[in-house]
Amino acid sequence: MAEMIPVGIAGMGKYVPAKALTNLDLEKIVDTSDEWIVQRTGISERRIAADDEVTSTISVKAAQQALEDANMSPEELDLIFCATVTPDQLFPATACRIGYDLGAKNAGGFDLGAACSGFVLAAQNAASLIATGQAKNVLVVGAEVLSRILDYKDRNTCVLFGDGAGAAVFTSLDRAGQGEYLGGSMGMEGNAEDVLAQPAGGSRIPATIESVQAGQHFMKMGGTKVYKFAVRIFAKLVQQVIDEYGRDEIGVIIPHQVNQRIIENAMANIDVPMDMLYCNIDRYGNTSAASVPMALREAHEAGRLQKGKLVVMPAFGAGMTWGHIVVRW
Ligand code: UT7
Repeated sequence: MAEMIPVGIAGMGKYVPAKALTNLDLEKIVDTSDEWIVQRTGISERRIAADDEVTSTISVKAAQQALEDANMSPEELDLIFCATVTPDQLFPATACRIGYDLGAKNAGGFDLGAACSGFVLAAQNAASLIATGQAKNVLVVGAEVLSRILDYKDRNTCVLFGDGAGAAVFTSLDRAGQGEYLGGSMGMEGNAEDVLAQPAGGSRIPATIESVQAGQHFMKMGGTKVYKFAVRIFAKLVQQVIDEYGRDEIGVIIPHQVNQRIIENAMANIDVPMDMLYCNIDRYGNTSAASVPMALREAHEAGRLQKGKLVVMPAFGAGMTWGHIVVRW
């Protein structure tokens, strides 16, 4: 086997729709309160896509920023991953529309469906393809327009989620000059369709008048099961990195922005202080596959990516799926 090519992250981008939906707005729509939402989730507001925005259009904006940050033209890309559970359509892949609109004439592309874990799973694939010389420059997008599959009559779900897009450009470490990819993990536990899912619209329950009338095209969630699962897995993933590299090596932990309480509980269980984390859930809610790359870009802007220190990105979501990546900045 040929020698592996070291991989780095050359650029990062983020885009959120302009319209904010606040907890006070939600109080007028469902039986909830600002106090309940802040206390249970840490969320104050989330962004909602405009009528003319879809997953590909918000992805393109995040991708353009990431490419500019990477000082790379779209023609240089040879692969585009789009991690999402809210593609423009079930097929063709949203990655194809993103590539076309970007002008990425030389890229292949496909979507990756692993819910909130999508970005970190796609990142591992991108890094492997670059490391083995099969690709040079890979754009990894995480993007969601979850507002289109939320039931704004269901207070269990509609208060938690928001829309947004994040992107990162992976390339050789030589070219990137930063963000050395060190490795990651992937896991899953199936049989969870009743825990967190969009029941209808696929081959199990095709879209029919009945499925729509029953609201089966909306996201359904058993919150407590997700909560317990997330606390356990998140603590395990971070502990794994501490055991492997040492706590002092970690510069910042950028978790999937699932719920502030979940993150705090998990970190308390392994004695990790919250000032080691970068969180923005208060402003965006849970944006599923978009949350990690959006937070990565913001952490970069906030000067939280410290030269020589580790950036740890753990995620988990529907499936259930989970995974993490570790980068040395
Ligand atoms: O990427 C993964 C995505 N999933 C998640 O992030 C969800 C993870 N789960 C959670 O974050 C929490 O389970 C929730 C925030 C969803 C709920 O918090 P909880 O402390 O587990 O509350 P609960 O489900 O035990 O519900 C307590 C009460 C219930 O009322 P009753 O049955 O006790 O009368 C709920 O109906 O809170 C009620 N409730 C609400 N009340 C006001 C549920 N949603 C709301 C709401 N506003 N939005």
